[in-house]
Amino acid sequence: MAENERKKVILSGIQPTGVFTLGNYVGAIRNWDTLQEEFDCIYFIADQHAITVRKDPVKFRQQTVESYALTLACGIDPKRSIAFIQSHNPNHSQLSWILGCVTQFGELSRMTQFKDKAAKHADDINAGLFTYPVLMAADILTYNADVVPIGDDQRQHLELARNIAVRFNQRYGDMFTVPEGYYPKVGARIKSLQEPTKKMSKSDDNPNATVFILDDKDTIMRKFKRAVTDSDSEIRFAEGKDGINNLLTIYSCATGKTIEEAEREFAGKGYGEFKLAVGEAVADYLEPVRTKFAQLMDDKAYLKECWTDGAQRAFRLSNKVFTKACRKIGFVDYR
Ligand code: TRP
Repeated sequence: MAENERKKVILSGIQPTGVFTLGNYVGAIRNWDTLQEEFDCIYFIADQHAITVRKDPVKFRQQTVESYALTLACGIDPKRSIAFIQSHNPNHSQLSWILGCVTQFGELSRMTQFKDKAAKHADDINAGLFTYPVLMAADILTYNADVVPIGDDQRQHLELARNIAVRFNQRYGDMFTVPEGYYPKVGARIKSLQEPTKKMSKSDDNPNATVFILDDKDTIMRKFKRAVTDSDSEIRFAEGKDGINNLLTIYSCATGKTIEEAEREFAGKGYGEFKLAVGEAVADYLEPVRTKFAQLMDDKAYLKECWTDGAQRAFRLSNKVFTKACRKIGFVDYR
């Protein structure tokens, strides 16, 4: 890329709702480090989105700090990228108000996540839950982000952000970059260790189904020992062998070996031995993240320095776009 060519901006908001799973790590997070070479990266902890569901303030603050530390532990470099906490940059919610005024009630009513969450929290269908996608659009548009890596559950929200951008541009003249979704190519899909036809999920009721990236070695070994296999006895990747396929995939991700190499390595060996080997490999694979996380959580002053610097840089960047939007819409200038 030429020296003066602008890198594309990639932006992602991360909900502070507990630790990532091995599935999240393999599917997306482990690519963060390399994304930083290709893109200008903006990562933030979406604490304003999180309060659409009622939280215990003490736990919530702790979770936000932990989530921030975890993004750094997973390879976000706070110097190369902009890493901050959403509520520290007021431009998100400021722009959100403006964008809310070009968003229709009907559009928000059609959001499936709103309908799901409203059903789940029937005693607290607050306005924030309803306007959540507008805030998400503001998160993205206030940086003129080019690309947004998202999971399937966020596709509809990104589509809305694109519609809002196009509409604003039509009404007020070209203003916002219309963001594209970013779907990483690699995408090994890790399944539940207990029901290997289902995706590995953060919120599985079965504690043995999901490996979290901060699990200690004993916990990891216990979960793999209990992993579901099949009544066959061969360690090979084949249709109908969902449990073994999943374990082979995990082993391959953790070691960098191909599935074929793994099959050869375990030819003639028993499932018990194989499961222990996968557990060991995963524990080794995740160990650096756990260590880095512990170091960061031990140094709150450093963490605070990072998020303060991140918020200042985020503010400067977003403020250009926000100020321009204010002017376009006809607000009186005062600066
Ligand atoms: N809504 C996203 C989620 O629940 C988090 C999020 C908030 C986000 N703002 C964003 C993701 C902007 C991408 C871009 O996962």
